[in-house]
Amino acid sequence: MSHQTDFQAWAAAGQNRIEAVLHQLLPAPEIAPQRLHQAMRYAVLGGGKRVRPLLALAAGELSQADAERVALAGAAVEIIHAYSLVHDDLPCMDDDVLRRGKPTCHVEYDEPTALLVGDALQSLAFQVMAEYKLCDDATVQLEMTKLLAAAAGSRGMAGGQAIDLESVGKVLSVPELEFMHVHKTGAIIRAAALLGLKCGVPLGAHEYAKADTFAKLIGLAFQVVDDVLDADATTATLGKTAGKDAQQGKPTYVSSMGLVRARTFAEELRQEAMKALDGFGERTLRLRQLADFIVLRKF
Ligand code: IPE
Ligand code: IPE
Ligand code: MG
Ligand code: MG
Ligand code: MG
Repeated sequence: MSHQTDFQAWAAAGQNRIEAVLHQLLPAPEIAPQRLHQAMRYAVLGGGKRVRPLLALAAGELSQADAERVALAGAAVEIIHAYSLVHDDLPCMDDDVLRRGKPTCHVEYDEPTALLVGDALQSLAFQVMAEYKLCDDATVQLEMTKLLAAAAGSRGMAGGQAIDLESVGKVLSVPELEFMHVHKTGAIIRAAALLGLKCGVPLGAHEYAKADTFAKLIGLAFQVVDDVLDADATTATLGKTAGKDAQQGKPTYVSSMGLVRARTFAEELRQEAMKALDGFGERTLRLRQLADFIVLRKF
């Protein structure tokens, strides 16, 4: 089997595992209030690349974590991510009508429902973190919960989204762009990898720092590539409306440095991220393949 087919098989198995866990964690559609629960399931199930839980699973391979526990932690991260997409698409934010190849949550349902879907998904994610045994040491599990909260909050994703909104129509410097991207997207991706790691046997401080460096770099790379794809891919391949950033006057790596240099920058981040994994040996195979996927993806 080639490395590529092998990765595809691994990713498909991980995606199926995550889908099953998400299906279980979300309230059944016939439980009241039905419309809210149906909308939550609509926003989470049956779509998306599941990159964050896959990163958690790959990181868990570094620390010999139990894959079932990692899948639960990864699902919690994916639930936060899905909430962030529902809110990101609202008319008061990016005003998008297409997500994961389907009408956005507020289009399929309505705006108040989409708002509540986000609220309820965020709570559900933390309920999962509190309810299931995710690692042997309860103190570490508490740290994991804190880590996810920080990544999602005003000093993480929500803060990055605030910067994104207040930056419309402005020109940002590259350090400012990096700050925005590291927060709005990087924080949750970094948290996904760190949570996967923490489900297993604790790494030494040096190894942990190296894995964290990888996660930070790949989190930034993810949003740089998202900017590139917004400018360079089609609505059909993305499953979301292409060309929105330029249309809405969002400062991006593409508006700042152009497509070619933005692509080169993502590639540099990938190489730097790979370097951070030097010395770990075979255990980083899936993380490396995910870094390749994140930077080389077409959707
Ligand atoms: C899109 O994330 C939003 C960003 C944070 C850039 P993804 O590209 O991971 O979206 P899905 O989950 O695959 O739909
Ligand atoms: C979204 O960034 C980041 C979060 C949802 C936190 P974008 O606004 O660029 O994401 P897309 O392009 O709509 O998926
Ligand atoms: Mg946005
Ligand atoms: Mg958006
Ligand atoms: Mg985008």
